[in-house]
Amino acid sequence: MTTRALLITSSVLGENGQSNALASHFETRAAARDGVEITTRNVVTNALPHLDIAELGAWQTPVDERNEEQKALVLRSDELIAELSASDVLVIAVPMYNLGIPSQLKAWFDRVLRAGETFRYTENGPQGLLEGKRALILAARGGMYAGTELDSQTPHLKSMLGLIGIKDVDVVYAEGLNMGDATRGAALKEAFQAIDQQVDAL
Ligand SMILES: Cc1cc2nc3c(=O)[nH]c(=O)nc-3n(C[C@H](O)[C@H](O)[C@H](O)COP(=O)(O)O)c2cc1C
Repeated sequence: MTTRALLITSSVLGENGQSNALASHFETRAAARDGVEITTRNVVTNALPHLDIAELGAWQTPVDERNEEQKALVLRSDELIAELSASDVLVIAVPMYNLGIPSQLKAWFDRVLRAGETFRYTENGPQGLLEGKRALILAARGGMYAGTELDSQTPHLKSMLGLIGIKDVDVVYAEGLNMGDATRGAALKEAFQAIDQQVDAL
């Protein structure tokens, strides 16, 4: 059986991005496994604009009433949702920028968290419509936050994924990357090992 992984990268630092290094490690290891197919999406080099009223309005316009501009706007989200729907495992490599996720990654979530498509509102609250998927977050941070109230990323990412039905989420942290060479080296070594274990379990 084939496992299809969608690998999202979101560092603005290109080749120097530490979360990109985590993603590359995942990709190299996973590509060496039989039965694993990887699709990559760099949300920085393929940056999406902020979600605005025109795009929201296009989503809310009935299919047969959409004009050409609205069709193109809806297609943007449709294609990203189709790409996500086709995956079994969503892998998100995410740097911490100013205590949050990169705005480019938020713009991607703004396209795949779509009422009526990936979740729906019910009398019991929102219900996720993507089933049978899991997620792996590869988190690179200058400081140390995991398991503390200051970790503004992990709960946010888990909430967004949970909204669309992805509740099986693992996180690999590479923390303290700006806290000296020794801390950085140890954190990356540990993160690479944790990624190897995740790939073995695919
Ligand atoms: C604009 C910017 C903002 C940052 N803000 C934070 C922060 O709030 N907390 C933190 O721990 N590290 C912060 N850092 C450090 C990054 O999290 C760290 O360098 C990490 O490696 C970035 O991932 P990347 O190399 O994949 O881009 C920031 C770095 C940049 C460039």
